[in-house]
Amino acid sequence: MGQRTDVDVVSVDVDPQLAEIAASLETPGYVEVRVADGADLLDAECRWSMIFADAPAGKREGLDQTVAALEPGGVLPVDDMTPEHFVSDLHRDKTPEVRDTLVADPRLRTVEVD
Ligand SMILES: C[S@@+](CC[C@H](N)C(=O)[O-])C[C@H]1O[C@@H](n2cnc3c(N)ncnc32)[C@H](O)[C@@H]1O
Repeated sequence: MGQRTDVDVVSVDVDPQLAEIAASLETPGYVEVRVADGADLLDAECRWSMIFADAPAGKREGLDQTVAALEPGGVLPVDDMTPEHFVSDLHRDKTPEVRDTLVADPRLRTVEVD
């Protein structure tokens, strides 16, 4: 599952209905939509120039695997890190942990954007 493809952007959703909607949109040929657990794309064989893990998998869970899947110089945008956007108790409780992990990771240079 983790293998690179001949497309430039891989969009993954574990929900088949949402992935179907995404696939139905007009997208350039370099975009591939998959139904999968995002964590399954982040194996040790695979490196990505940018990963936007916009789901619990790869962000609140498996963050180390996400960072490891970046190629050198790769970019890891992480959103919903500010209190006004907290949508649940779990989000509120886990977000400081995610932030601390990112800031402390020696593989990353971290920039916070308000
Ligand atoms: C916050 S939404 C983001 C959707 C999209 N990035 C956007 O901005 O419109 C999170 C999405 O992650 C999907 N999701 C949750 N767990 C996932 C997983 N383990 N692997 C892949 N997708 C997952 C959900 O079905 C949901 O569509």
